[in-house]
Amino acid sequence: MNRKIGVVDSGLGGLLVLEALQKVHPQAHYIYIGDQEHAPYGDCSKEELLHYGLRMMQYLYQRQVQEVVIACNTLCANVLHELRNAYPQMHIYDIIETTCCQLKQTEKQRILVLATHATVQKQAYQKTLKKICSAEIIELACPKLVPMIEENSSQEQVQKVLQEYLQPYIGSVDAIILGCTHYPILKNYIKNIIDVDIFDSNEAIAHQFSFYKSDTENQLEIYTTKDAMHMHEQIKKVLKKDYPVSKLQLD
Ligand code: DGL
Repeated sequence: MNRKIGVVDSGLGGLLVLEALQKVHPQAHYIYIGDQEHAPYGDCSKEELLHYGLRMMQYLYQRQVQEVVIACNTLCANVLHELRNAYPQMHIYDIIETTCCQLKQTEKQRILVLATHATVQKQAYQKTLKKICSAEIIELACPKLVPMIEENSSQEQVQKVLQEYLQPYIGSVDAIILGCTHYPILKNYIKNIIDVDIFDSNEAIAHQFSFYKSDTENQLEIYTTKDAMHMHEQIKKVLKKDYPVSKLQLD
């Protein structure tokens, strides 16, 4: 069976999810879209997010993709229902629920969730985690991080900004959730400031993926809605990978 899997995000972050998926499920044809034209998503309204999400879904539907990982917490927190309703034929994975499931019945007492403004506003992690564990949940919006990652800011700048965000929580939380797919790129810096268990979405979503036999050859298409050459360079610098990137014009 020809297995096509779509992975969408606002930019580079979702590529880490894609890489985790490829490790567990190499026999698939992956189509990745980074909607860099509209990034960062974290400051967008629900209406904008729905519009952007629907455009990407429409493209994947036309390409006969059966399964889609919305590798973007901001989209999941705000418009997952609407996207599922618009495309009931496709299996759309919820990255927030999957990430939270790693903390089922955890004994952690105080969990800090780092996410975008739009995810924090919806209290998406708070609501999901309350159902599965009794820890106190603190959600912190970190709007400066995604632009810094996309622009490949210097180590010093990143450390300074992270220090500002995290300083108030040193010694008072016992776990951190990276509630934005861009943030695992900064995992080591975060760990250096607060040395607690850090949870992200990458392996979680890859393992949650349904298993079925596929004879598809491993294929990878990476698209950006902005500038292909620029994204190619960004991936080289930030992720140290040399993936071909094409520009995608969406209606
Ligand atoms: N990486 C996305 C997320 O997980 C969106 C980040 C952004 O564009 O602000 O929320």
